[in-house]
Amino acid sequence: MARAPRTIVAPSLLAADFARLGEEARAVEAAGADWLHLDIMDGHFVPNISFGPVLLKGLRAHCRLPFDVHLMIEPVDPYIAAFADAGADHILLHPEAGPHLHRSLQLVRALGKRAGVVLNPATPIEAVAWVLDLVDIVLVMTVNPGFGGQQFLAAQLPKIAALRRMIEAGGRAITLAVDGGINPYTAAAARKAGANALVAGTAVFGATDYASAIGELRGAGPAG
Ligand code: DX5
Ligand code: ZN
Repeated sequence: MARAPRTIVAPSLLAADFARLGEEARAVEAAGADWLHLDIMDGHFVPNISFGPVLLKGLRAHCRLPFDVHLMIEPVDPYIAAFADAGADHILLHPEAGPHLHRSLQLVRALGKRAGVVLNPATPIEAVAWVLDLVDIVLVMTVNPGFGGQQFLAAQLPKIAALRRMIEAGGRAITLAVDGGINPYTAAAARKAGANALVAGTAVFGATDYASAIGELRGAGPAG
């Protein structure tokens, strides 16, 4: 039997030591992370403020991992090019953050970046159904966006399974990711439901050994 591809792990820098971000990004790359997840919050779409494109640009010199940029800003369209220029590889948008999701995804693709759609806990899977041809990543929020360290919402598991079925029916390779409250236990449940990428802040940057933490999320045991 063919071996399933390894689960992608994307540490979220939101839980890193903000006085040492370059070092933290290098450390997770050395520890075997697949992507670096960057949470961009505007204090309006979500009730928190994080950082912007200038910080991404500075980090690019420290880390070769694909930058998985989760935009929690509204309106989002005017900022997409700035994040593309600053070094984003994946640009992920919430359908609620602009009037025309299809147009926003076209813009991301026109800039040569991988495009993602992020579904809040209350957002139905139908929000992405008719734009799947423009989508490389679907990210299911398993907490309300805005803060790290929240509790995983298990009610999202059937939604992950439904999205997995939708993706398989479409026949294109689309990464199905989860974000929020991911630890080795919830990661196992998310993987079982059909997720093949895991965003994790606290579970990686809150650990003393980043490589073991990443391996445990993949379900590969501490040596991962
Ligand atoms: C929340 C962010 C997450 C956050 C996850 O709005 O989208 O990426 O950093 O943090 P943990 O893994 O601690 O729940
Ligand atoms: Zn995120």
